Amino acid sequence: VTLWSGRLEAGMAEEMAAFTSSLPFDRELWRVDVAGSVAHVAGLEGVGVVTGVEATTLRAALRAVASELEDGTFAFEPTDEDIHTAVERRVTELAGATGAKLHTGRSRNDQVATDLRLWAREAIVAVGGSLLDLVEALDARAEELAGVWLPGYTHLQRAQPVLLSHHLRAHAWALLRDVDRLCDAAGRVDVSPLGAGALAGSSLPLDPTVAAGVLSFGSTFDNSLDAVSDRDYVGELLFCIALAGVHLSRMGEELVVWSSTEFGFVELDDRYTTGSSMLPQKKNPDAAELARAKAGRLIGHLAGFLATLKGLPLSYNKDLQEDKEPLFDAVRQLLGSIAALRGCYATARFGTEAMADAAADELLGAVDLAEWLVARGMPFRDAHRRVGGLVAIALRDGRPLRELVELDDELGAQAAALLGPEGAAHRGSSPGGGGAAPSGAQAVALRGTITSARSRIDALPRLPALW
Ligand code: ARG
Repeated sequence: VTLWSGRLEAGMAEEMAAFTSSLPFDRELWRVDVAGSVAHVAGLEGVGVVTGVEATTLRAALRAVASELEDGTFAFEPTDEDIHTAVERRVTELAGATGAKLHTGRSRNDQVATDLRLWAREAIVAVGGSLLDLVEALDARAEELAGVWLPGYTHLQRAQPVLLSHHLRAHAWALLRDVDRLCDAAGRVDVSPLGAGALAGSSLPLDPTVAAGVLSFGSTFDNSLDAVSDRDYVGELLFCIALAGVHLSRMGEELVVWSSTEFGFVELDDRYTTGSSMLPQKKNPDAAELARAKAGRLIGHLAGFLATLKGLPLSYNKDLQEDKEPLFDAVRQLLGSIAALRGCYATARFGTEAMADAAADELLGAVDLAEWLVARGMPFRDAHRRVGGLVAIALRDGRPLRELVELDDELGAQAAALLGPEGAAHRGSSPGGGGAAPSGAQAVALRGTITSARSRIDALPRLPALW
């Protein structure tokens, strides 16, 4: 028996059933599906479509179904083409004629839209919280390793010395923007489509705000056609996830490069590396490599899903069933990458000596020399040319730059001192810069942003307790 056996006589062909069934992946929605039904029962009861006694029966049956699903004793039937069908079928088995009233004024179209929004709300909380855990791990290492310099790079060429704490916090700020973006998207997820029915609402006097209230939705739909066909929030979340994945990918790549013998800037802990089946000496940064790789898949989920949405006529189309797998997989993969990278950073041994050696490259102080001249009235362009000329000579003749600076009649010994450790106090000292002077303020700002992001996530609507 199918949900529509009144209209269609023949059952589905076997391969058709296998092709169209979403149960293999939408079981993931069981908890939110039961919640949506509990809310719907409240709506039906509120307008007298079911009596108080019937509502109690339905709630009891839903609760029984939930515990079967929870403890794994729920018996799925071959005709359960999706989780909504399975839950309703079982409620009807348990509650008889009353169970058959559950789907009054509701369609799987508004039901699945409701379920997925509820699921997405929880996912935002999980992903946002996990990103903040990684941010905190980065900040903790930054604090611990305060005072360590390394070369900052542009074009992957040594550019200026920066503090390692500055470098690690650069990643943290990007991840905080990801959290911010997710929280922004949460507002648009938090709209209840329940009550839109198949596409046009119902002739029964249902009030969508009742069910929305039970589910703690911030608002209800304004247009039923839009409510059942809108998957913008899935696209938005896939974008937020893809971009966070891109950030993790860049971090992963950095760990891969830094852990090479050539760099020696980090040694990953054994627990986050693998050995080689053939080469006894190998220690491979697989976690970082996979974090780098997953971005490809996450971008694919976004691009693929937008392609599925494009050109769909209003309102619900079965195509929309394809929203779940990319979203579920994207969330799962991102959470995996975040956890692995967090472990990598928390346990890594940073090669602070290799970093310090590389940062001691005196050419990295070239701009400080030019700025020293600027502070004494020379136009920057002239100062740049003058120092550039000395660098060229130093490289050509294989002489230390410092020596040439000392001999230069505009620069001299005082400027030359900038190229040694004594110069560190001046480096990157402007607000937000990579040196020591602004680092304390940055740490305070970062922690303030973490705290407010945490409270923003804590304040997001969650699935309330149902029973
Ligand atoms: N499994 C379906 C989905 O994920 C549920 C909605 C089915 N609606 C329908 N009119 N066939 O989209």
